Amino acid sequence: MNIKVLEPHSSVDWAYVQDIFISVGWGDRGGIQYIEKAFRNSYRAWIAMERDTVLGFVRALSDGVYYATLADLVVHRNQQKQGTGSLLLQTALSDLKHIPTVQLMAVQEKHNYYERHGFKRVETSMARYLNPQKEQLFLLSRL
Ligand SMILES: CC(C)(COP(=O)(O)OP(=O)(O)OC[C@H]1O[C@@H](n2cnc3c(N)ncnc32)[C@H](O)[C@@H]1OP(=O)(O)O)[C@@H](O)C(=O)NCCC(=O)NCCS
Repeated sequence: MNIKVLEPHSSVDWAYVQDIFISVGWGDRGGIQYIEKAFRNSYRAWIAMERDTVLGFVRALSDGVYYATLADLVVHRNQQKQGTGSLLLQTALSDLKHIPTVQLMAVQEKHNYYERHGFKRVETSMARYLNPQKEQLFLLSRL
């Protein structure tokens, strides 16, 4: 397995990337044109490959100086628990070592996983969601 950085000229099977989102229950993400746009508009995206097959990915949104936010760390359901997610995270954090603040949003069940990769829980997150289902799932005030 190797981790490649998405470059402007990189050709990626975006339909397969969409299948990976679907495999973990995140839906079709509105269509492959939006997936490609989101990845290409990211500060950086890392893609785990086994020969020509995409296994998983993570991307960073960033100003390149102060802050970076990791988004969409996903490994295909059938390829999980083999270290791919960890390698993606380690590669991303290493490439972002010049950025003093790296943040992410994660459901509670994933907090231990991220803690093992050096992240700490914070109390400073706020969010505005257009999707009421996301509010149902994520807002502290629902508790
Ligand atoms: C979160 C996610 C990306 C992790 O990917 P992954 O490739 O399975 O991650 P890893 O293999 O590095 O680690 C997963 C677990 O497998 C274990 N593992 C890693 N290699 C292993 C191996 N060879 N044999 C057995 N277990 C192994 C790890 O110790 C880890 O255990 P933990 O869950 O108790 O921490 C993946 O579960 C996923 O895509 N989930 C759905 C999307 C999601 O929730 N993303 C996070 C958004 S906040």
